Amino acid sequence: NSVMIQIPGTTANCGPGFDAIGIACTVYNDFELTFHDSSRLVIEVDGEGKETIPTDEKNIAYQAVLDLLRKINHQIPGMTIKMFNRIPLSRGLGSSAAAIVAGLVAANELTGQSLSKQQLLDIATSIEGHPDNVAPAIYGGVTINVCRDGATECLRIIPPKPLLMVVAVPDFILSTKAARQVLPKQVPLQDAVFNVSRSALLTGAFCTGEYRHLSAAMDDRLHQPYRQQLVPGMPEVLRAAFDAGAFGSALSGAGPCLIAFCDQNADHIGQCMVDAFQANGITASCMVLSIDT
Ligand code: HSE
Repeated sequence: NSVMIQIPGTTANCGPGFDAIGIACTVYNDFELTFHDSSRLVIEVDGEGKETIPTDEKNIAYQAVLDLLRKINHQIPGMTIKMFNRIPLSRGLGSSAAAIVAGLVAANELTGQSLSKQQLLDIATSIEGHPDNVAPAIYGGVTINVCRDGATECLRIIPPKPLLMVVAVPDFILSTKAARQVLPKQVPLQDAVFNVSRSALLTGAFCTGEYRHLSAAMDDRLHQPYRQQLVPGMPEVLRAAFDAGAFGSALSGAGPCLIAFCDQNADHIGQCMVDAFQANGITASCMVLSIDT
């Protein structure tokens, strides 16, 4: 009655695919769930969020465990949760999605795997509010996600050519809630058309490996123009990545991480992004990741 799993971090949106496209990345949180007879709840957190993640009933991974148990009408046992986190917290790399998915997947395994990945995805999407981080955390790869009649339809793509993701991680956090509050309720038709065409091109580039299209395919008018006020130096860092040879670059999820795609010179691109952040008064570190499959 104990299970240990690994859940990947994820980058959502990739520019134009707001709330629709997400990629699983090779950075992982370890999650161990044990059910026991006593009614005690023990939560231990190490690594990222050691000081800040709640270790009581408010813990979102624990909440996800409860959601799954209730869904399958299972009694609520005492439990111990051990989290070792490597995904940077509240930075736009899917740390909350990873916690939710970890809780759901672990609880499902401990109770006989009665729910399918599709069912886990639907529960996870309803908890998180959007599917583009939870879907790749469950399925791996690049995922195209469509919400329809209360369910999430997910197409998983494994690009045919290697792709690296260079992530510049600034030393401040940004909540998804705050980053969604700056978005307009309505957008001009031309901006919607701008994003529809680019997210189609983006999907095509992932399917074919024709990454030269990523420069155009990663432009966005639905969220990045509004969010750039929250990330000092954002246009400069995105530009620096491109000038250093990246195919394209974007805000990772709701930010504040910025992400660039390339197939070589990743360390150089990362250094240029970190330097551009520094020139704007922001200290950042860099991670080079690939697609978790
Ligand atoms: N699509 C979401 C957003 C991702 O941009 O708000 C948040 O991680």
